Amino acid sequence: MVKICCIGAGYVGGPTMAVIALKCPDIEVVVVDISAPRIDGWNSSDRLPIYEPGLDDVVRRCRGRNLLFSTDVERHVAEAGIVFVSVNTPTKTRGLGAGKAADLTYWESAARIIADVSRSDKIVVEKSTVPVKTAEAIEKILAHNSKDGIRYQILSNPEFLAEGTAVDDLFKPDRVLIGGRSETPEGRAAVAALKSVYARWVPEDRIITTNLWSAELSKLAANAFLAQRISSVNAISALCEATGADVANSIGKDSRIGPRFLSASVGFGGSCFQKDILNLVYICECYGLPEVASYWRQVIRINDYQKSRFVNRVVSSMFNTVAGKKVAVLGFAFKKDTGDTRETPAIDVCKGLVGDKAVVSIYDPQVTEEQVQRDLAMNKFDWDHPRHLQPMSPSVVARHVSVSWDAYEAAKGAHAVCILTEWDEFRRLDYQRMYDAMHKPAFLFDGRNVVDPDRLREIGFVVYSIGKPL
Ligand code: NAD
Ligand code: UGA
Repeated sequence: MVKICCIGAGYVGGPTMAVIALKCPDIEVVVVDISAPRIDGWNSSDRLPIYEPGLDDVVRRCRGRNLLFSTDVERHVAEAGIVFVSVNTPTKTRGLGAGKAADLTYWESAARIIADVSRSDKIVVEKSTVPVKTAEAIEKILAHNSKDGIRYQILSNPEFLAEGTAVDDLFKPDRVLIGGRSETPEGRAAVAALKSVYARWVPEDRIITTNLWSAELSKLAANAFLAQRISSVNAISALCEATGADVANSIGKDSRIGPRFLSASVGFGGSCFQKDILNLVYICECYGLPEVASYWRQVIRINDYQKSRFVNRVVSSMFNTVAGKKVAVLGFAFKKDTGDTRETPAIDVCKGLVGDKAVVSIYDPQVTEEQVQRDLAMNKFDWDHPRHLQPMSPSVVARHVSVSWDAYEAAKGAHAVCILTEWDEFRRLDYQRMYDAMHKPAFLFDGRNVVDPDRLREIGFVVYSIGKPL
């Protein structure tokens, strides 16, 4: 029986390995992590460490059968034939390339563990998103530290799942991409071995094989294209508001453009779009391509603009001051169906509102009070960010931010409601009830186009919806 080990039990490692275990009952799959609380969470019977629709069921069906979660990194790496590396690759916060380049500290430490403990040949799979040519660096680390002539084959197998739909995406991926060294027989054999794992449930024509650096760069390029699409529609949303035009539906009907991923929003969030574009920008600069770098950097600038534009709209609409006014924030996660708050636009919007002395009351069905407080007081890298987005001191968070477990409670006595995540339940709220409990004029700022502005205007709200006529 083949054994697969995955280093990193996060948003990618956990769900990806759970689906491999489900689809390949003859393969033992072990997910390891240095974080004991994370592993405890994966082994817990009531709440997994991440919220992802359908994941509980997949984990319940395989855990203890052929799916294991463990902190014993050395043992399981040593025993595995295929080792996935799915550790975090955040943006560097200091040193060379700070604020842009990917921090490969975790990746390198995983590679060194593999070299240290391996007693047999291994296929090492890059699952994390990494800069193009990382596989070459990893090959060198492994080759220079190899014991007893152990040989390693490195593959790049980037992950394209989106949070909130991870299980569906893994069950039916648009494509699986495997990059390897097709010029050598060992490289071809490694690609074939990984392909045979996915081929248990993914149609062969959806499994693309290529070379290492094409696979690595495809991942960065795909995320850059997706984020660029959102910044494009968000840039146009500002013009729509100014002119009263509404275009997303009509441009999406062009089959070359297509309707998906064209929702104007308060800005994209999530752990990857910004980080991966910054990484792409850095790579372009390193290769002497400043024009290409500045093209992609603009995608992030528009995203920052969209977030501050939203805050400015709230403040200017409410007679240029929100000082001392209660503002209900509905949704804190970076998108619906996840509890993930990494780089969520809600952080920037809340910081902007509190910077203007508003009192913010937040409700999100999946985000805890502790998480909100941590996020708002957290230091994040401040590359190219306006000053009002600096971390808030814990005492400011305590005085200006509260978390409510009910949307109505959050809106009670508020002057305004801001919708920042497109949770389905926000479509079904009793807005009349909310309106009745609010100060008048009651404002509603919809950063996700969740509500019908006409219906809410009938109730009496002053409504602002992203990209819609005022
Ligand atoms: P994450 O932070 O949720 O998980 C990473 C895990 O790796 C953490 O639990 C951490 O403790 C562990 N880790 C770090 N160093 C380790 C080591 N040396 N040994 C053992 N464990 C170690 O990150 P994530 O969201 O799962 O992302 C992982 C990678 O996948 C990133 O490169 C990311 O860009 C990429 N990616 C993420 C998504 C997503 O939706 N989150 C989608 C596609 C690709
Ligand atoms: C994204 C990609 O979609 C995945 O393919 C990729 O694997 C992943 O990044 C990654 O590398 O981490 P994810 O960030 O989980 O997935 O979620 P998306 O659905 O892409 O949404 C990202 C952000 O864009 C969210 O804040 C979402 O609300 C926003 N968005 C999305 C819009 O504002 N408008 C849209 O039309 C679509």
